[in-house]
Amino acid sequence: MNENEKRVLMVIFGGSGDLAHRKLYPALFELYLKGQLDQHFAVIGTARRPWTHDYFRQTVAENLQAGTAAQQQAFVGHFYYQSHDVQDADHYIILKKLIDTLDEQYQLHGNRIFYMAMRPALFGTIAAHLKSEHLLSASGFNRLIIEKPFGHDYQSALALNDAVISTFARDQVYRIDHYLGKEMVQNIPYLRFDNPLMAAVWNHDYIDNIQITLAEKLGVEERGGYYETAGALRDMVQNHIMQIIAMLAMPRPADNTDQAITAARREVFTHLHQYDATEIPRKFIRGQYGPSEDGQALGYRQEDKIDPKSNVETFVAGEIQLDLPQWQGVPFYVRTGKRLPLKKTRIDVVFKSAAQNLFGSETLAAPVLTIEVEPEMGLTWHLNAKEVGQSTSAIQRPLHFALSQTEAGQVPDAYERLILEAINGRRSNFVSWQDMSGAWQFIDGIRQVWEECQCPHFPNYPAGTMGPAASDQLLQASGRHWIFTN
Ligand SMILES: NC(=O)c1ccc[n+]([C@@H]2O[C@H](COP(=O)([O-])OP(=O)(O)OC[C@H]3O[C@@H](n4cnc5c(N)ncnc54)[C@H](OP(=O)(O)O)[C@@H]3O)[C@@H](O)[C@H]2O)c1
Repeated sequence: MNENEKRVLMVIFGGSGDLAHRKLYPALFELYLKGQLDQHFAVIGTARRPWTHDYFRQTVAENLQAGTAAQQQAFVGHFYYQSHDVQDADHYIILKKLIDTLDEQYQLHGNRIFYMAMRPALFGTIAAHLKSEHLLSASGFNRLIIEKPFGHDYQSALALNDAVISTFARDQVYRIDHYLGKEMVQNIPYLRFDNPLMAAVWNHDYIDNIQITLAEKLGVEERGGYYETAGALRDMVQNHIMQIIAMLAMPRPADNTDQAITAARREVFTHLHQYDATEIPRKFIRGQYGPSEDGQALGYRQEDKIDPKSNVETFVAGEIQLDLPQWQGVPFYVRTGKRLPLKKTRIDVVFKSAAQNLFGSETLAAPVLTIEVEPEMGLTWHLNAKEVGQSTSAIQRPLHFALSQTEAGQVPDAYERLILEAINGRRSNFVSWQDMSGAWQFIDGIRQVWEECQCPHFPNYPAGTMGPAASDQLLQASGRHWIFTN
C-alpha cells in the first residue's frame, strides 16, 4: 500500500447534483491522482432518480478534466449509485447493505464520511435515519460534512445543529466554508504569527482599518430561487466574510492543534460588537443591481425566478467592530456584491500614517498590505520610501510577491483540500458551532433592522459597477476610502 493512501467510504447525499459533479468528484479525482486515494476507497452517490452504477460513473467521468482516460476509468470504477429517497426509512436498509459490502470489498476498516450535498431542510432527516437504521460504523471513524447554507438565521441554524448532533458527536461534524480552503486565506496565520515583525504591528496601535472585498462578476445565474430567500448578507457575509475576519483577527493560538486554533477563532465570534438598532443603518448598507449602463446585462429583477418587485439585496457593505483590546477602534470594512466589474477577493490592511511625516508630503498615503486571495494569489506591501534621485521626498513603493504560474498550478482546489482535511480528521479549517452561532446572531441583528425599516430605492447600482454610492459614503463618514477601486 502507498503510505499516503487513506481508507474511506464516502456516501454523498445529493450524488446526482450540481455540487457533487462540479466540485466533489473532481476534487476526489485530484486526491486519487496524488495517491491520497488509491485502492482502498469507494464512493456511493445517492439521489432519488433511478440511475445505474454505469450511468453514474459516466456522469462522474464527464466532469473530470485531469488525468488520462485510463486513470479516469480506474477512478470511476470506485463509484456506486444507490437510488434513495432520504425520507424513506426502507431505503437506508438497502443503502446499509451496499455500505457493508463495499467496506469489506475495499477493506475500508469502517471509515465513513457522509456528505450532505443537498437541501439543508433534509439534513435532520438524514442524520436521524443514519442513526436509527445503524449506518454508522462501530469500528472506524464516522464523519459528517455539511454544506452551506447552514440555516437562514440563528434559530433555524440551532434547530439544524440540534438535529445533526443528535446523531453525530460535535467533533464528528465538519461544516464546510470553502473560503477556509483557499490558499491565501490559509496563509493568513502564517503571515501573522510566523513573522515577529508582522505580529508586533498587528493591532490597533499600528492598524487603522482592514478592508475585505468579495466581488463577483456574475449575477444570480440559475440560483435565483435560492437567492430570493437568502440575499448577499446571508449568502456571503454570515459565512465567508466572517471566516476571513476570524483569520485576520484571532489572537495567537497556543499551538497549531485544532483545539487551539478553534479556540482562537472563537474569541472573534464571541466578541463581535453588537450594534444597537439605531446604529445599523449607518453601519450596514445594501444594494441591488439594475441593468448595466450599456444594456448588455439584465437587472436583478429581470433575472430568471426573481420577483420583479424583489427587495433582496445583491450587495452589502458594512463596518464590523470587535470588542477585543487588540482591535479597539479598528473598523473591519467589508463589502460583497454580484454583478460588480470583476471577480476578486482581496484584503487591504491599512496601517496608520505617521503623525508627522519626516520626508513625505502631507498627502503621502498610508502604508497598505494587500492580500490577493483570488484570482491572483499574492501579497503587496506598499511602503513609504525615498524617491529616486536628488529628490528628498518620500513616495510609496510596492514590495510584492505573487505565486508563480507553477506554484499557482500546484494550489489545490478548496474542496480538494478540505475533503482531505476531513479524511485526515483535521478540523481547524471547518466552522465550529460557536463560529456559526456567533455569526448568525450578529447577522440577525442587521436583518431585523432591515426588515423593519424602509428599503432603499432598488435598484441602486447598475450591473458592472462597484455598488451603490452609499458604499463609498460608509467610509467617507470617517474620512476613509476603499483602497481597492477597480
Ligand atoms: N452547487 C454549488 O456550487 C453549491 C455551492 C455551495 C453550496 N451548495 C449547496 O449544496 C446543496 C446542493 O446543491 P446543488 O447545487 O448540488 O443542488 P442540486 O443540483 O439541486 O442537487 C440536489 C441533489 O439532491 C437530490 N435530492 C433532492 N431531494 C432528495 C430526496 N428527497 N432524497 C434524495 N435525494 C434528493 C437530487 O437528486 P434527485 O432529484 O434525483 O433526488 C440532487 O442530487 C444545496 O444546499 C446548495 O445550497 C451548492
